Amino acid sequence: MARKPRKILVTSALPYASGSLHMGHLVEYLQTDLWVRFQKLRGHKCTYVCASDSHGTPIMLKARELGVSPEELTEKVSQEFVRDFAGFGVDFDNFHTTHSPENEALTVEMYEALRDTGDIYTRTIEQSYDEKEGMFLPDRFVRGTCPRCKSEDQYGDACEVCGATYTPADLIDPISVLSGTAPIKRESEHYFFKLSEYEKRLRDWMKHATLDKNVLAKLEEWFEAGLRDWDISRDAPYFGFRIPDTEDKYFYVWLDAPVGYPASFKHLCARRDDLDFDEYWRPGHDTEVYHFIGKDIMYFHTLFWPAVLQGAGFRTPTSVFAHGFLTVNGQKMSKSRGTFIKARTYLDNLSPAYLRYYYAAKLGPTIEDIDLNLDDFTARVNSDLVGKLINIASRCAGFIGKRFKGQLANALPEPELFAEFADASEKIAEHFERREYSKAMRMIMSLADTANRYIDEKKPWVMIKHDERLDEVQAVCTQGLNMFRSLMIYLTPVIPTVADDARAFLGEAEWNWDAATEPLLGTTISKFKPLLTRVEPQQVNDIVEQSKESTKEPETVADDDYISIDDFTKVDLRIARIDKAESVEGADKLLALTLNLGDSTRSVFAGIKEAYEPESLVGRHVIVVANLAPRKMRFGVSEGMVLAAGPGGKDIFLLAPDDGAEPGMRVK
Ligand code: 2FM
Ligand code: ZN
Repeated sequence: MARKPRKILVTSALPYASGSLHMGHLVEYLQTDLWVRFQKLRGHKCTYVCASDSHGTPIMLKARELGVSPEELTEKVSQEFVRDFAGFGVDFDNFHTTHSPENEALTVEMYEALRDTGDIYTRTIEQSYDEKEGMFLPDRFVRGTCPRCKSEDQYGDACEVCGATYTPADLIDPISVLSGTAPIKRESEHYFFKLSEYEKRLRDWMKHATLDKNVLAKLEEWFEAGLRDWDISRDAPYFGFRIPDTEDKYFYVWLDAPVGYPASFKHLCARRDDLDFDEYWRPGHDTEVYHFIGKDIMYFHTLFWPAVLQGAGFRTPTSVFAHGFLTVNGQKMSKSRGTFIKARTYLDNLSPAYLRYYYAAKLGPTIEDIDLNLDDFTARVNSDLVGKLINIASRCAGFIGKRFKGQLANALPEPELFAEFADASEKIAEHFERREYSKAMRMIMSLADTANRYIDEKKPWVMIKHDERLDEVQAVCTQGLNMFRSLMIYLTPVIPTVADDARAFLGEAEWNWDAATEPLLGTTISKFKPLLTRVEPQQVNDIVEQSKESTKEPETVADDDYISIDDFTKVDLRIARIDKAESVEGADKLLALTLNLGDSTRSVFAGIKEAYEPESLVGRHVIVVANLAPRKMRFGVSEGMVLAAGPGGKDIFLLAPDDGAEPGMRVK
């Protein structure tokens, strides 16, 4: 059937480059990959791009904690992503990073366009500030007691116990999770995008974007509450792109993250002559752009993103497809129960085909959550894929191989039965197109039942005993293998590697969707090898056990636990004499020390008050890190660090190199 080829660009949400992929992430990437593969199989030009979401405070702090640069961290995590995605057959045309020149250029272009049309303004706001760390704190980095229900240790934006939402300023006894100190309020100038002026334009976009009714309902709710302008800037220190004409303001990660979609596409265009950036990202072209996302990030993709695109003169998405969350065994994934399963742990034990099929069998087009029930997973893939689907081929292939030298019959004995399989093509395609994968899988498995019933009725294993019925055996098995073949073609987007093996076994070079409607006759097929084996419950248990264990390992991205000799020689250790030691008002643990380093004196705060009386320290020699960058603390600036041993509290022992050591001496 001739079908007008469409030009489609598809994206999945960009994963944060700070952790490993897990079963929850895979719902989205598999959902998208199935759709893309389906479109390609139907003959459309479909391009699938993604990237690592590399910016923001959490990534910056995680890198700091691991002792690497954010670039190193995100690069290393991205490499893992690429490996794990490939393991699951998620076939991106391009996987890039938001920390890229393409992304910076596009982000700045969009920002400047918005600024020039008057959609950006600045306003001074007050925010929580950690004086010890010298940085503004994202809401999630402040914890304290919920102002409503008084539950302790709640995040700065919402209470997990009573569901109240608020700002960190509303918390009782707020504490910075970075330093453990109480944050102060500090003012800073921020850049805002006038989202409030976009309601009409967003409503127009919504009319054409064929959004799911749940997504529409959510949008309606947000419109009702009133659109508020969006704070798109963050203060240094921040890992991101600097805002033009500023010294220390950065684009908020959520501004440049979705720009990662066109940026990744642009990066791909540079090596693909057949793709034109403007055709997919400027208005007025006959192309389609779809974003697959989780339901938690709808606000960003259905309000901010289309508004930014529109305001900056770019095209808006054709639609945004949101999905629900994953539970495992009916509950939130849990590290202690072993149900927080990383992509890698799964791949170490099982073929990706099982999970691809299982998710397909569960997924619909709505934001409803889906459950990965591990017993059901084992039962379902064994029954459907092995017991029904592969079984059709294994019951027919042997006879064709052994008795007919692999030769298929020249005609089908029951063309009308085959027609049932061919006629299902458009209905199944419609289900794929609408992301009604569970419906498509149900139809395919019901056809597999039909095929198995046919073979049960014909009983080729009985016929084969009668020489005069040999032709009939060849015909029946050809019929069986053709039904198998059509179903395998329909399942190609779901279990592509199994389908590839099936296609090779049937001796065909390639398949497209419509091949399923024409039988394969008179050709020679290869020897049949089992295409998939059963999942053993033990394999699933192993995954759970390994997931329990993997959480006990400390997280690390450094190659090993050592610092290099170069790192070590950077540390300037000196002998210092304590000239003065005083208590610090308001600090239980700190002493303010004046250190004499021979050629200079330094003010250093040391957390040793519980272990030493200040006066006992005057005149003592200590070892000090002399080239530590000065740090602003609540009580003043600290210009070094005194080395001590011991677990803390009263048990702190200053290293005291008194024998002949002089202030200023290097420590080697
Ligand atoms: O929620 C998340 O995991 C984000 N990293 C998704 C970003 S999607 C896009 F906008 F970049
Ligand atoms: Zn509460």
